[in-house]
Amino acid sequence: MFTLETAATAAYVVAALLFILALAGLSKHETSRAGNTFGITGMAVALVATIALAINHQIEPLGLALLIGAMAVGAAIGLWRAKVVEMTGMPELIALLHSFVGLAAVLVGWNGYLHVEGDAGGAEAALLSEQGMLGIHSAEVVIGVFIGAVTFTGSIVANLKLSARIKSAPMMLPGKNILNVGALVAFLALTVWFVIDPSLWLLVAVTVLALLLGWHLVASIGGGDMPVVVSMLNSYSGWAAAASGFLLGNDLLIITGALVGSSGAYLSYIMCKAMNRSFISVIAGGFGIEAGPSEDKDYGEHREINAEAAADMLTSASSVIITPGYGMAVAQAQYGVADLTRKLRDRGIDVRFGIHPVAGRLPGHMNVLLAEAKVPYDIVLEMDEINDDFDGTSVVLVIGANDTVNPAASEDPSSPIAGMPVLTVWDADNVIVFKRSMASGYAGVQNPLFFRDNTQMLFGDAKDRVDAILAAL
Ligand code: TAP
Repeated sequence: MFTLETAATAAYVVAALLFILALAGLSKHETSRAGNTFGITGMAVALVATIALAINHQIEPLGLALLIGAMAVGAAIGLWRAKVVEMTGMPELIALLHSFVGLAAVLVGWNGYLHVEGDAGGAEAALLSEQGMLGIHSAEVVIGVFIGAVTFTGSIVANLKLSARIKSAPMMLPGKNILNVGALVAFLALTVWFVIDPSLWLLVAVTVLALLLGWHLVASIGGGDMPVVVSMLNSYSGWAAAASGFLLGNDLLIITGALVGSSGAYLSYIMCKAMNRSFISVIAGGFGIEAGPSEDKDYGEHREINAEAAADMLTSASSVIITPGYGMAVAQAQYGVADLTRKLRDRGIDVRFGIHPVAGRLPGHMNVLLAEAKVPYDIVLEMDEINDDFDGTSVVLVIGANDTVNPAASEDPSSPIAGMPVLTVWDADNVIVFKRSMASGYAGVQNPLFFRDNTQMLFGDAKDRVDAILAAL
């Protein structure tokens, strides 16, 4: 028989399919807009179905008012933040949003406890124990609270690190690996104990333990590994949502959580491969990474160049490679860079772009900016496609990039970014580095590239300097 319940189940299946189409669409430039539309539509279908179900279950008027009020406030804040956020502030916003998913999972877990285990004489507890499901419910509560709390504090630390409100360098507590492993073992023991005897203090202990572990895991991961951490937290938030789905008996939440959890884990894995990092080491809070010696090296003198001389060098070049980084995003220099590319190509100079997998602050950051400025896709190459071509290139323009062009990554085993693949710009005949000072990049390490004989620094805001070169051309 057709009931509202069956209609809602059908709507959930449609929403789940739309989420899968969204993920598929988001995997390519050309289909990413369609992917977003699928995602938005799926979420709208899911929301309508959930509210209809709530009304059908004769939710009290106060509950309904709270539900709609919370959605209206949440939607208003979400729309406002999405409107004002700068592209460069995106990762920290995403980290903050992950923390909400974690917090929600903790609240759902606690709510589950208060309704069932905490109300032992209540109807729900009686029903579950009659079905022999009480132990499973307790396990769902404790696992959901644990994953949610780790995600909550981990995401807050990631937000603080990405917004530079705390230092991005890894926190190195003595015996940090033992602390992490110890916390996991304690969690397992507490879970078994809670399933046997679901008392309040055990749930409090698991919550506190998980909050501390989340904080410590992310605080222990530094500089160059932060991109992976953001996608790991994305994955954790998915598992936290799936755990809430089990507790609430909501299939759509389980499916959506699993989609987010597994796609986030896979993205982290791809990023670890691109960065030559061990996946296990990163998810285990920098397991096996020790603090390197503090920097106190004398790199010698650097040379400077001005915009006019840079323009002369470019006009006499036969080939140019541009390697943009976070500074191009900050300066919003992509439009000037696109103009410069057009002008140089009109003069018959071969211009291409080399994009490092973690340039900027989010995956694909530079590709998005260049596409926005209408730089043709076919001259925008990935690091692996272009790294062999720097040798023989007349001029490389490093526009607001730093860690991603640091030779110490391949030459200095004691460097905190040792082993990370980088764009080998120094192989070119000439390198011009656009930045405002000699300051270090995200990972906080000095860059020996700036002191090389074939490197010249063009100081100033990247957009201003690119405009000055355009004027000189
Ligand atoms: P960074 O190493 O962060 O260096 C950016 C450089 O841009 C800075 O040294 C800065 O120097 C310069 N800059 C800032 N504002 C500028 C402006 N207005 N004009 C000109 N220059 C400006 O950049 P990168 O090479 O793109 O490397 C990315 C780093 O971020 C990596 O360490 C990566 O691991 C990390 N990270 C990446 C992601 C993802 S997924 N992409 C996520 C989180 C973290 P001045 O201050 O001297 O100008």
